[in-house]
Amino acid sequence: MNQANAAPPSAQTHDQAPPVTSAGSVRIQLSDEPRDREAQPLLVLGFESSCDETGVALVELQGQAVPRLLAHALYSQVEMHQAFGGVVPELASRDHIRRVLPLTSEVMASAGRSLSEVDVIAYTRGPGLAGALLVGAGLACALAAALDKPVLGVHHLEGHLLSPFLSADPPQFPFVALLVSGGHTQLMRVDGVGRYEMLGETIDDAAGEAFDKSAKLMGLGYPGGPALAALAAQGDPKAYALPRPLLHSGDLDFSFAGLKTAVLVQSQKMVAAHGAPIAPSEYTLASGATPGFGALPVQAQANLAASTQAAIADVLVRKSMTALKTTGLKRLVVAGGVGANRCLREQLNAQCAARGLRVHYPELHLCTDNGAMIALAAAMRLQSGMQEASRDYGFHVQPRWPLQSLQAA
Ligand code: KG4
Ligand code: ZN
Repeated sequence: MNQANAAPPSAQTHDQAPPVTSAGSVRIQLSDEPRDREAQPLLVLGFESSCDETGVALVELQGQAVPRLLAHALYSQVEMHQAFGGVVPELASRDHIRRVLPLTSEVMASAGRSLSEVDVIAYTRGPGLAGALLVGAGLACALAAALDKPVLGVHHLEGHLLSPFLSADPPQFPFVALLVSGGHTQLMRVDGVGRYEMLGETIDDAAGEAFDKSAKLMGLGYPGGPALAALAAQGDPKAYALPRPLLHSGDLDFSFAGLKTAVLVQSQKMVAAHGAPIAPSEYTLASGATPGFGALPVQAQANLAASTQAAIADVLVRKSMTALKTTGLKRLVVAGGVGANRCLREQLNAQCAARGLRVHYPELHLCTDNGAMIALAAAMRLQSGMQEASRDYGFHVQPRWPLQSLQAA
């Protein structure tokens, strides 16, 4: 379990649409007008349960200042799913049920607040696993009904997208966003909260999937991204020439499905060159690893990992630079689990610095799924006037939900 307290309050502000004055029937004053300076801050409690991480967080919202994270707690189910080589949806839902209330108590205690002080309750409405989403939505709505507070359903990817606002160096609108999670790879133009224009996206696998599937072929288990990155750190990224799909397509779309096939073919070649093919063991058959790959010298394994990582990062970096050039925007925001990748960060930092551009990331521990980004996204939607919380507790979840369909609600 990972529990972290927030950074100190930030004085940063951002341009937005007119502030809202109510959330459901809760009267709130959010503008920076002098008469509102005395306004009480608003407490937003957020729940994330879209996949294999249970996250709970409390943020404080006052005026047009960037909302402040008071406390958050996270429980990762990774260990439980590892035995199965991936997320088992039914187990994920059951574990969210087990974890969410203790995490909530932990957050409230850590922030020194009580549930009765909470003004708005937010939850991830989608996209994600239906059963897992229902746990967070059900809990949020039941709690809100019991406390007589309004609720607000949040888009998971909007949470990722806005998560860099919780960092020590928050961005300002407008910016280009590179959203790289386990299921999505998208470049968006972001002009404000809820003002998203899709510039390009993957036509097949996401970058996170490319990491995960390649890692599986190398016998690195689940989740593969961090494990592949760790192995790659000792390898030569130029050892193998792997494809950079759609690099010169002239648009901002991505395709990563062919990369895992190239990694499979390369790994089989390496095993064959190393000696007699090794009969697949029960382990390799069950794990999806290329038979014999684990018997290769560690340096050879690391070289393939480094070459794979370089191919993924190369495409992400070059397409991001093209997006910045074509939009004329000067800021890049990187969000989602793959945004934690060090090689990707180093290359983006270097390329942006060379062009006089700014690049922003979430804090490392907020790159992957967490409750802080959900509470934050809810707070920023309220603040921007894009959405109001409501006392309609008849919740529904949206396992499939395109981000660009999110407008004022
Ligand atoms: O955003 P996220 O936590 O969950 C989704 O919303 O999908 O992203 C998870 C993805 C997984 O594919 C995981 O392997 C990848 O992010 N990931 C990484 C790293 N940390 C997480 N990929 C590469 N390098 C990392 N350090
Ligand atoms: Zn996510």
